[in-house]
Amino acid sequence: MKSLEGQVAVVTGGSRGLGEQMVRAFAAEGADVVIASRKLEPCAALAESVRTEFGVEAVPFAVNVSEWDQCDQLVERVYERFDKVDVLVNNAGMSPLYDRLSSISELLFDKVINVNMKGPFRLAVLFGERMRQDGGGRIINVGSIEAMTPEPDALPYAMAKAAVHTLTQGLAKVLSPEVRVNTLQPGPFLTHISRAWSPEFKAGLEERIRLGRCAEPAEIVGAALFLATAASSFTTGTLLRVDGGWA
Ligand SMILES: NC(=O)c1ccc[n+]([C@@H]2O[C@H](COP(=O)([O-])OP(=O)(O)OC[C@H]3O[C@@H](n4cnc5c(N)ncnc54)[C@H](OP(=O)(O)O)[C@@H]3O)[C@@H](O)[C@H]2O)c1
Repeated sequence: MKSLEGQVAVVTGGSRGLGEQMVRAFAAEGADVVIASRKLEPCAALAESVRTEFGVEAVPFAVNVSEWDQCDQLVERVYERFDKVDVLVNNAGMSPLYDRLSSISELLFDKVINVNMKGPFRLAVLFGERMRQDGGGRIINVGSIEAMTPEPDALPYAMAKAAVHTLTQGLAKVLSPEVRVNTLQPGPFLTHISRAWSPEFKAGLEERIRLGRCAEPAEIVGAALFLATAASSFTTGTLLRVDGGWA
């Protein structure tokens, strides 16, 4: 028996990067998957690949998690399609570049807070309540090491990611014992976002990592499966660092 056989997992930001790795890992363990991001086409392409490779249902959705209404629509449409949801991964996130802290516009600030904090709140609350009514589930909120060691080049993002862990702890209390809620906190991973890193910037990151290197995207899978499955049956409200020993 696979560890997620007959279960349904929703992954925001599921079209690429860490989200894609989690989608593939959950499907390999037997889960039907909902792959959600702003652009439908990459979600649809991944869904096709997942159906073929793993023989599960894979449903693409276009959603901007920054928009409250779009979060609500995602939840409605997922429950039209599936009777229940077992796992939600609030993974969609981003941190746009800016020159200096005082140059951050209100627009940019709101954008960062909305995608990294507002959307995860709305989705976790809506899916969490339904999961509890339906008897159980797991929510994984993807945080960031920036929340613990904030840098000036991503301060609004760091603030939002810190709030994600506060959300985790609050919902772990509200939704217990049926629904377990945890934060998965990555360190530097070589995903799409790392394309913007200069060699000097990457070397600076590596100096702060005990293992001396950045992670390959697939290295998120072990921790994600732990939090998504019964392997973590006595774990809720916690923060799991997957950062190679970031300091
Ligand atoms: N990679 C790292 O080093 C690192 C470190 C710490 C934390 N993290 C966190 O890990 C998560 C995944 O990061 P990643 O490196 O895999 O990023 P990525 O490769 O840039 O992928 C981001 C995903 O989020 C989607 N997305 C972005 N904005 C969205 C929005 N407003 N609504 C819905 N979907 C949206 C993107 O698709 P669309 O463009 O189609 O929307 C894409 O699927 C993020 O929360 C990030 O903050 C990453």
